[in-house]
Amino acid sequence: TKHLLGIKGLNEADIQLIFETADNFKEVINRPIKKVPSLRDITIANVFFENSTRTRLSFELAEKRLSADVINFSSSNSSVKKGETLVDTVNNILSMKVDMVVMRHSSPGAPHFLSQNIDANIVNAGDGTHEHPTQALLDAFSIREKLGDVAGKKVAIIGDILHSRVALSNIFCLQKLGAEVMVCGPITLLPKYISSLGVKVELDVKKALEWCDVANVLRIQLERQQIKYFPSLREYSLYYGVDKKLLDQLDKEIVIMHPGPINRGVELNSDVADSEHSIILNQVENGVAVRMAVLYLLAGVK
Ligand code: CP
Repeated sequence: TKHLLGIKGLNEADIQLIFETADNFKEVINRPIKKVPSLRDITIANVFFENSTRTRLSFELAEKRLSADVINFSSSNSSVKKGETLVDTVNNILSMKVDMVVMRHSSPGAPHFLSQNIDANIVNAGDGTHEHPTQALLDAFSIREKLGDVAGKKVAIIGDILHSRVALSNIFCLQKLGAEVMVCGPITLLPKYISSLGVKVELDVKKALEWCDVANVLRIQLERQQIKYFPSLREYSLYYGVDKKLLDQLDKEIVIMHPGPINRGVELNSDVADSEHSIILNQVENGVAVRMAVLYLLAGVK
């Protein structure tokens, strides 16, 4: 395949190949000399129409570790502000002989639209409420690293499922790898179609935590909410916030994940985010190796 637009288009073998490639790159980036020459003749543009800390820095580092030439574009200080379109913007970047585009956009489907209009390899770094494929890959890679395998594990995705691209990509990825997936949140933050995806649905966060091996806790995405959803942040934190007191009531081990950025004290308390249960910073570390693998496997595919 030429692009990585979503997890939906991948099969289990594709994901396992990405993981095996990432295993090798993780070893490389822990050596004193962290760079390999694999993408020395490739130029990559990171084109971000939406804010990012982790994904943008992680892609840039992955590209540099692979010896690619890198340019960074952020719409907030660009000529998009003067009315330039998405296709014009990207075509102008491509005229400078760019081979691959890593793109984040607030509109679902923006990278798919772009893939039909330009010739470069495209990697989706998050398109609105739709997919965030490299996040799901690094999440599943981190579960595999922590628990040995993803198959047979019970993963609860807790939070604002309705507005989350991380939730959708995680559901696709975890199911393809043979995990059981549950979503948990207030009914107003669960999409109506959620049961059709073959996931368990739970409204009670304590029951979700009792069921799962891994809890992937998601942020309430206020920036995507067109109307004011019930509950308010205070109510959400009261009924769904994951804290040490809640985990202490469970008679078992549990792994806590979060894609970041965390709203501390809302969906996740610091006494859990910074505890021995948390693999949040391992997820960030693994993101570089996983993105190296994705870029390496796509580079040069026509
Ligand atoms: N997890 C994630 O996508 O974080 P950023 O929005 O900071 O890239």
